[in-house]
Amino acid sequence: MSPESLAETVLRLSTVSRSSPRDPNETTHWPEPDSLDRAQWFTSPELISVYGTPLWDSLDDHARRQLSFWEAVGFYSLNIHGEKLLIEGIARRLYQPGLEDVAEYLHHFLDEENQHSIWFATFCLRYGGKIYPDRKVAFPREHAPGEEDLLFFARVAVFEELVDRYNSAMGRDDRLAPVARRINANHHDEETRHLVFGRRLVEHLWRWHAPGWSDETVAGVRAHLAGYVMATWREYYNPDVYRDAGFPDPYATARQAWDHPATAAHRAALTARSLRWLYEAGILEAPVLS
Ligand SMILES: [Fe+2]
Ligand SMILES: [Fe+2]
Repeated sequence: MSPESLAETVLRLSTVSRSSPRDPNETTHWPEPDSLDRAQWFTSPELISVYGTPLWDSLDDHARRQLSFWEAVGFYSLNIHGEKLLIEGIARRLYQPGLEDVAEYLHHFLDEENQHSIWFATFCLRYGGKIYPDRKVAFPREHAPGEEDLLFFARVAVFEELVDRYNSAMGRDDRLAPVARRINANHHDEETRHLVFGRRLVEHLWRWHAPGWSDETVAGVRAHLAGYVMATWREYYNPDVYRDAGFPDPYATARQAWDHPATAAHRAALTARSLRWLYEAGILEAPVLS
């Protein structure tokens, strides 16, 4: 069987998006309780940022569950900021020359991301009273033709691939409070289509533009994406989360958690699995985390 073309992928994914309308109740009101018992699990213990470190070992069950709540607020905040950039970047590229063929699916993408942000933000504000601020900093730079689009969609794909590993695991985790399981499962459900689209489009843009780039541009793209993977992971170690969980020195906690071999091994394994396709397509050359 010959591989599906980008246009065929767009048609197939758009059809699925159209045929999976959401429960209208979910889009007009929040179907979850007004308040939550924070003595439940909201993040799978193995996916909590300090898991496997001496700090984790020192926490009792109650403190671990409290931390799991603030880690959920942190993870959802990270998603909101990621989706904000995504919505902005996709809206700007609707019907852009060269991307007309994918416009139909970009509309579904926008619609679905907007809904995801509503779920994430409602949880954060209703149960945590806050959304943590965005810590990512973007530096403006000059781009070769096509480079900005490739980088945008590759960043989106990297972000969604990493997030989805957490969503798919937590959407199936019976230990979690139903609301947390549901948010993760819903997100995973729609993201599986975004991941397929992201891979196809990034590979298409790479094959289209990279042959015309200088060696310096190609090296710059690779370095930028490697830096983005690192910056994305950094956000999972959030001092705001540690402060709300009651840790006395949240910045030291973030540093210690990041530096511990157990968390480094977790990041390397997950990155290798999620981003293998970027190496196989020749877009990244060597594992960015090992
Ligand atoms: Fe999303
Ligand atoms: Fe998405």
